[in-house]
Amino acid sequence: MLRSAASRPIRLPETAGPPSNSSDGVAAPHDPRQFWRDRFRTVRAETERRAALLSAEDQVVQSMPDASPTKWHRAHVTWFFEEFLLRRFAPAYKAFDDRFGYLFNSYYLSAGPRQARPQRGLITRPGAAEVADYRAHVDHAVTVLIDSTNDFAAIMPIIEIGLHHEQQHQELLLTDILHAFSHNATHPAYDPHWQWPKNEAEGVVASVPVTGIHRVGHDGEGFCFDNEQPAHDVLLQPVRLACALVTNGAWLEFMADGGYATPTLWLSDGYAVVEARGWNAPGYWRLIDGAWFSMTLGGLHPVDPGQPVCHVSYYEADAFARWAGRHLPSEAEWEVAARSGALADAFGKVWQWTRSAYSPYPGYRATEGALGEYNGKFMVNQMVLRGSSLATPDGHARASYRNFFYPTARWQFSGLRLAQFDD
Ligand SMILES: [Fe+2]
Repeated sequence: MLRSAASRPIRLPETAGPPSNSSDGVAAPHDPRQFWRDRFRTVRAETERRAALLSAEDQVVQSMPDASPTKWHRAHVTWFFEEFLLRRFAPAYKAFDDRFGYLFNSYYLSAGPRQARPQRGLITRPGAAEVADYRAHVDHAVTVLIDSTNDFAAIMPIIEIGLHHEQQHQELLLTDILHAFSHNATHPAYDPHWQWPKNEAEGVVASVPVTGIHRVGHDGEGFCFDNEQPAHDVLLQPVRLACALVTNGAWLEFMADGGYATPTLWLSDGYAVVEARGWNAPGYWRLIDGAWFSMTLGGLHPVDPGQPVCHVSYYEADAFARWAGRHLPSEAEWEVAARSGALADAFGKVWQWTRSAYSPYPGYRATEGALGEYNGKFMVNQMVLRGSSLATPDGHARASYRNFFYPTARWQFSGLRLAQFDD
């Protein structure tokens, strides 16, 4: 199945879709069962579309503890429906294989013991084809449940979060295989036809001012994760946000000015990482015969000065901002500016680091039950990124979305835009 699918031309979406508080921009369904059956099929197919360009060998590799094998992603998102939907709402459901819970549970302590995260790449069996069978087994059971349940209102929220969860893993599938391919001296292309999405920044004004009291967080119709609530008011001091993303060209100036070798530009923890890991350029950059290249989903490409810088850590983003005499925006400043429509490339290019620590909004309560482990327990020691990236699936981006990673992380499609406080 995978082999034949791989012969079809596969393209990533050009953009991650418009910012929206709706779950997918689709009109309210007249027939909810039909709507969710179709939505389920569409999202599940996108995972397989992304995986179809990868061989069974590609799909088993785990290049670092933070990254997971493609095959594991495909199975884990399937386990999520099995564990949180079918086992609880479909009494007659027969598991595809009772041992898979151990292999494909990620971090849900309430769902039982699990394979250690750094050892996901040791799961050579089930193979990629058997994972496809597992997916088909669960797809069928979920479809039957949607058609037959007497309590559709109870299962709908689980299907919805399961699909948004799967979309998160669709992005990780790409970031993780890119990390694996970056370790291959032949520079494999995930998609030989891949290109950067078009820039929106040409002709935009330099910056947009924000100030005053604003409502942030998710306060409308449609899906959001629990970490986007409660919506609440914030008081912003006068600040201007750059309408364009920081480019590779600007980053090359930072490098030429000794940015990576100037400790005073860096947070102490950040410079310790620079020294320990020998960072002297963004992730995946290679200096070849005096010219910079970058490993991309299309293989090794020359660094384009006009494109946004990508694969930089929070520490690097923070140091660059200090070098430029600017700051990173807070997540609230970013959200207010993005909602105004003034930010070019707010979505669909690179996630943008903010200076906000990932912490609960005032009055936040984690979702009840096992799914309460989804977000809340990670609210320490990580920084928030806003927007979305070229790898974010259509319909998954919204202005209130809070992505979060450790400040050393740079295997995501992460960049930055700058902020300047009025003097
Ligand atoms: Fe997950």
